[in-house]
Amino acid sequence: MLAALPALVAAATPAIPMAPPAAGLPALPAVVRNEAQEQQDARLRWFREARFGMFIHWGVYAVPAGTWKDRHGGEWIMNQAKIPVAEYRALAAQFTAARYDPDAWAQLAADAGMKYVVITAKHHDGFALFDSAYSDWNAVKASGAKRDLIAPLAAAVRSKGLKFGTYYSQSQDWTNLGGSKGRDQPWDEAQKEGDFDTYLKCIALPQARELVEKFHPDILWWDTEYSMTPERARPFFDLVVAHSNLIHNSRLGGGVLGDFRTSEQRIPASAMLGRALEVNMTINSSWGYRADDLNWKSAQQLIRNLSDIASKDGNYLLNIGPTADGIIPQPEVDRLLAIGRWLKTNGDAIYATRGSVYPQPRTWGRTTQKARPAGGTTLFLHVWDWPADGKLLLPNITQAPRSGRVLASGDTVTAGATAAGIVVNLPGAAPDPDVSVVALEFSGPVEVVNAAALPTDTGASGTLADPSKSPPAH
Ligand code: GLC
Repeated sequence: MLAALPALVAAATPAIPMAPPAAGLPALPAVVRNEAQEQQDARLRWFREARFGMFIHWGVYAVPAGTWKDRHGGEWIMNQAKIPVAEYRALAAQFTAARYDPDAWAQLAADAGMKYVVITAKHHDGFALFDSAYSDWNAVKASGAKRDLIAPLAAAVRSKGLKFGTYYSQSQDWTNLGGSKGRDQPWDEAQKEGDFDTYLKCIALPQARELVEKFHPDILWWDTEYSMTPERARPFFDLVVAHSNLIHNSRLGGGVLGDFRTSEQRIPASAMLGRALEVNMTINSSWGYRADDLNWKSAQQLIRNLSDIASKDGNYLLNIGPTADGIIPQPEVDRLLAIGRWLKTNGDAIYATRGSVYPQPRTWGRTTQKARPAGGTTLFLHVWDWPADGKLLLPNITQAPRSGRVLASGDTVTAGATAAGIVVNLPGAAPDPDVSVVALEFSGPVEVVNAAALPTDTGASGTLADPSKSPPAH
């Protein structure tokens, strides 16, 4: 769907050496902001440093909670169960948000160590969580909640010092007039009326403008690219560009590159330099609340995902799916708090780091790095599997670190140069069964010599999530 336009951006140059991308950057067709690299770096700085955010899928789909008659689904249930528009609209009365506590949601994000929150302001069912002058199919006018649900969350999130983003489904809207016409796969007569371009002009674009003007989001998180030609995408792009601090993702379509690319349910095998990356993932197997989805990822897996994604120079946007009355399921709370505890000790290895020095992950874990003001570098070893003999090899690194310590215990580690690389001598047993971090201090940049000759690491997993139950890809 991307237009073949010449690329207008150059890849950003990282301040410190990182592993080269496994494959070269593809020739990206691009519509991008007209700005200098330094301007872009400054605009994206907070985002690149954040590394961990909360995704919230909340809407009328939480009412059926996974099951409609004999059909199952999450936020796609209206489409998957082919629920007629009028019947789906009727469900909104039960979307009460009666126990919604935006401050508690924001506090949970902060306690989890998350630095930003992105909520579905309007998903593909077309239901807006905010009051809108352009469609009455919204939380204030059509739901049991009878109030705007975005404004108090934006305020609560910001009161904790976090950034706030809004997800908006611009090209798929199964309820508002003409919004289904992008893909044109209607299951109800009501969806056959209207026209896609009129929908974009009279609903999607004005609602996106409402979001920007009412809530001043830091991120506009588009979804999905279907049928978005360059002409259709242009006014949305112009809206973003008119707000200098607003950043947006790569899902607008029509050749618009976006400020960061998204990788859904999939952790790339290696870092890709140049563009900021965000990996968005479910905490069970669903985005929207499903009472029948108990396929919770373990806290260990989530922590390792965070470690893995940071080593790929990306952010982890981890999703929660609250119920129709506004409760965040306890298994989600428990897992987020466990990640937060880990980050309290090990956050230095995640926040404001850059990706691994190695092109491929190590079998024992991952690495991240951070340039220090005086020219030094901290290399963080995220040890997933603590070696039984206490020896960890960092192949093809020739400089010896000045010092080293285990973040969880404060124990000192020693390291020495060998012909194969640096050998780090770890004390005793792993202090943390999930990920133990060792910080090695070097006096300059850490270079991996002859990185191309390193064997491919077969222990690496590029796909830690189970995407099998996720909705159709777009
Ligand atoms: C896909 C799905 C959507 C979900 C999103 C999350 O685009 O269509 O249901 O919200 O991914 O990234």
